Amino acid sequence: MLENPQRYTVTAALIYANGPIHIGHLAGCYLPADIYVRYLQGTGRDVAFISGTDEHGVPITIKAKKEGITPQQVVDKYYTQIKDSFEQFGISFDIYSRTSNKVHHETSQQFFTTLYDKGYFDEEVTEQYFDEVANQFLADRYIVGTCPVCANPNAYGDQCERCGTALSPNELIQPHSTLSGSQPVKRQTKNWNLPLDKLQPQIEAYVNSHTEWKTNVFGQCQSWLKEGLRPRAMTRDLDWGISVPLPDAEGKVLYVWFDAPIGYISMTKEWAEQQGRDWELYWKDDKTKLVHFIGKDNIVFHCIIFPAMLMAEGSLILADNVPANEFMNLEGDKISTSRNWAVWLHEYLEELPGKEDVLRYVLTANAPETKDSEFTWKDFQTRNNSELVGIFGNFVNRAVVLTEKFNDGLVPGTCTPDDETQLALDQALKDELAQYPDRIGQAIEQYRFREALTLLMDVARLGNKYFAETEPWKVVKTNPQRAHTILNHALQVAANLAILCEPFLPFTAQKLHDQLGLTTKLDWTNAGRTDLLVEGHQLAPATLLFAKLDDDFIQIQIDKLNKTKEMNNAENMGAPAAAAETTNGTPEALEEAALKTVAPIKDTITYDDFAKLDIRIGTITEAERVPKSDKLLKLRVDDGLGGRQILSGIAKHFTPEELIGKQVTFLANLAPRKMMGHESQGMILMAEDADGALAMLPPSKPVWNGGGVS
Ligand code: 2FM
Ligand code: ZN
Repeated sequence: MLENPQRYTVTAALIYANGPIHIGHLAGCYLPADIYVRYLQGTGRDVAFISGTDEHGVPITIKAKKEGITPQQVVDKYYTQIKDSFEQFGISFDIYSRTSNKVHHETSQQFFTTLYDKGYFDEEVTEQYFDEVANQFLADRYIVGTCPVCANPNAYGDQCERCGTALSPNELIQPHSTLSGSQPVKRQTKNWNLPLDKLQPQIEAYVNSHTEWKTNVFGQCQSWLKEGLRPRAMTRDLDWGISVPLPDAEGKVLYVWFDAPIGYISMTKEWAEQQGRDWELYWKDDKTKLVHFIGKDNIVFHCIIFPAMLMAEGSLILADNVPANEFMNLEGDKISTSRNWAVWLHEYLEELPGKEDVLRYVLTANAPETKDSEFTWKDFQTRNNSELVGIFGNFVNRAVVLTEKFNDGLVPGTCTPDDETQLALDQALKDELAQYPDRIGQAIEQYRFREALTLLMDVARLGNKYFAETEPWKVVKTNPQRAHTILNHALQVAANLAILCEPFLPFTAQKLHDQLGLTTKLDWTNAGRTDLLVEGHQLAPATLLFAKLDDDFIQIQIDKLNKTKEMNNAENMGAPAAAAETTNGTPEALEEAALKTVAPIKDTITYDDFAKLDIRIGTITEAERVPKSDKLLKLRVDDGLGGRQILSGIAKHFTPEELIGKQVTFLANLAPRKMMGHESQGMILMAEDADGALAMLPPSKPVWNGGGVS
């Protein structure tokens, strides 16, 4: 960990410009980054806060196909929408740019050329699937087939989304192209690989020098390293992206995960140019602290692959930390773009105007920092009403209203306490208050944003407690000078809140400054003091910082989600004809269609083919979740031969507890296979319902374990 950095380069993931953003994105990456940067800037640190859109890669071309527009139209549309949403939520990027810019193309090509000239790339000719109808090579996502692990008929060429297994197109059974529906053929093609295997010792040393990284991040890196890194192609056969700067690379582009992280550098260049600064200080000086904020699905790219690229390049700094968050779920279900199961930021901004800070608060209070978390509208309402209104707003409001009432809205002066009790109460308030700026700051610097927010609310709680102990509304009748002193102290706490809440609730911080009649922004370095507001200073007329949300208001949002759920269910149960209407050849559409239609019968096999399958009955004796996988369960199955371990992608459908003691049907002679570092010796057979729910296949009456199925 870098001690006493001179400056900070803070990046937030370059999200694909292929759709609007939702609360999961905000909670996972952009809000923590913004809190971190606002705090650093508030304390006078030199920070470049860099982000933008990732405008290359297959996700963009798939979206273009789906919407019937060009990839360029896709990225233009979503760049603007995403940028607007971030701005309106107060995400304070120094620059929000795009990877389609010229400087980015040049920087990425230059980077590639440097690695090429240094001899880092290995050329490799491989056989890739080619669609003869569409006349192009197929990216993994454009190939769909049956998963060899769970038999999902709609597994992608890079991953089965049902069981979570990482796949290569070669492993799919009956692969077909989603572009034309045809069966692809193999063709030879040349690509340039980065030999991550050779770089493994350096990468390992780098990762192991960062034991302070979050457990989820460090753990994921270790499991990649343990599996052993493999060479990875840094070029692709695709017609959308940055062309490979080599004479014999016609029709090839840079791998999107090669160019995207270089975007952090090219965007820093753009920003520095605009600001008249030197970009190299932010990427080449080892006194600069580089921090990448990302979601958990991007860990390997930021902790292993990009650092490997940077090491190979040789002149650039490596990340000091990569504080990746886990995922946020919505009302008990995974956020999903294709199922429209999300709270979209552009819709929130329209439907709940002026409530940006409420969402910032709820998402931070509930951030998926160490494990997946959950957003519900009821929790949103409770946190707004009980915490923002009930604790923060209530305290500030009482301080201001009482000052209006007892001193015409002017900050009153103080006098020496009359007795020991008063002295002790005032001293306790001052002493406690003085500790918060450092405590909050430390929590933020250690990426513990939930804790930092709780500490902020503790400052408001401290103010409320002081009011409850001193009761100025009673004291004023007998001792107005003492009441004035109390109000002065309370207003100093409110002024501290105006400083300390800024990283979390920037709009509220501004409102609170206005409320306190402050025309210049209070400085974070002055937080903790109780002389921020001088005697006689005029406050603005009292207004409410936060408003209660009633049940009807929240119900509108709950109803909206219920409607989405109904529509999803209706679609899933719909007639095959309806499915055909909506099918347009994209993987998502194919997947949706598959939910509605009965799969066609596969090619006929002989009895001998069938006889090769050794299907048996066993009893599950142990079951547990596989750490870091939300899909896999590790099962011990009594097979009458001493037992075996089987991994099954059914964690979303069954709890481990409900499986123990159940008889199941399993394929006993499937070649053993490792998943997430655990060996699976067979496959549990499942039936799938039209809505995707899974059912086990127990025998109709108990049979002995190891009994064969024929
Ligand atoms: O997951 C994504 O949306 C990627 N486009 C993130 C890229 S982050 C960085 F490397 F640019
Ligand atoms: Zn699968």
